[in-house]
Amino acid sequence: MPDPARLSVDWRQAVRRSARMILVLLGPPGAGKGTQGARIAVHYDIPTISTGALFRDAVQRGTKLGRTIQKYRIDKGEYVPDEVVVDAVKQRIAEPDCAAGFLVDGFPRTIPQADAFDSMLTEQELSVTGVLDFDAPINDIVGRFSGRRVCPVDGSTYHVTVQPPIVAGLCDICRTPLMIRPDDEDAVVRRRLEVYQEKTAPLREYYHGRGLLREVDASAEPETVFAQVITAIELLRAQSRERSKQQDSQDR
Ligand code: AP5
Repeated sequence: MPDPARLSVDWRQAVRRSARMILVLLGPPGAGKGTQGARIAVHYDIPTISTGALFRDAVQRGTKLGRTIQKYRIDKGEYVPDEVVVDAVKQRIAEPDCAAGFLVDGFPRTIPQADAFDSMLTEQELSVTGVLDFDAPINDIVGRFSGRRVCPVDGSTYHVTVQPPIVAGLCDICRTPLMIRPDDEDAVVRRRLEVYQEKTAPLREYYHGRGLLREVDASAEPETVFAQVITAIELLRAQSRERSKQQDSQDR
């Protein structure tokens, strides 16, 4: 008969471990990962790490990472090599604001990146809580790029009709004039969608096979998508707690 006092200590340990929520947002360009990532970050009070935003910021500030990134033409939709991406993420998640959990948007994007992410989490006795797969017909998504506007300072994202800023053309947060992303040009969008299908779409199977994936219908309007996102996250957290409990009882 297991000792009830010991069981409750183990349970608290399992809850603590699974309480550090680590979410992955997966989905093609334009599916709304950035839009929903910003909302999730506020709702759960965790930072969102978008590798695309991290790279654009580094290029703009001319940092060492930015100079490296410039060689790889992300403005043309080409992927940055895995080792550069993995290194940048490893450094970012070691920062103190990630201590209580975080979400990654646009990472991992290849199987080697996913394997490297697993290893860096395992080193800290952590694991991915769950993966949200933003799924929408490509035809629904393509129309979103022509209306997207972004703030060059804080990276916040708008759409001229679906999510317009309060004052047309200006960022709601810092009032900086909004811009069009260079990789939102038609030909580049087509290339980004191709690269996604070839290199990133296989990650759906990768995470599905581990029981970590939940699909979100990203074709609905943002508010409806967010409601689905919260339901999916709560399910993933419950499953993660259950896995932790099972792991702890196996370890005993
Ligand atoms: P990144 O910045 O990650 O771009 P992406 O993955 O192509 O995704 P997007 O930012 O275009 O789309 P999103 O899904 O966030 O949609 P959003 O919310 O903005 O990466 C850029 C580049 O960096 C890559 O191409 C690659 O070169 C490089 N890179 C990054 N990470 C890498 C990695 N790990 N490995 C290698 N290379 C890497 O929404 C789009 C628009 O639609 C907005 O205007 C929004 O307002 C609107 N919208 C949002 N939701 C809805 C909705 N539900 N209905 C209608 N409109 C909506």
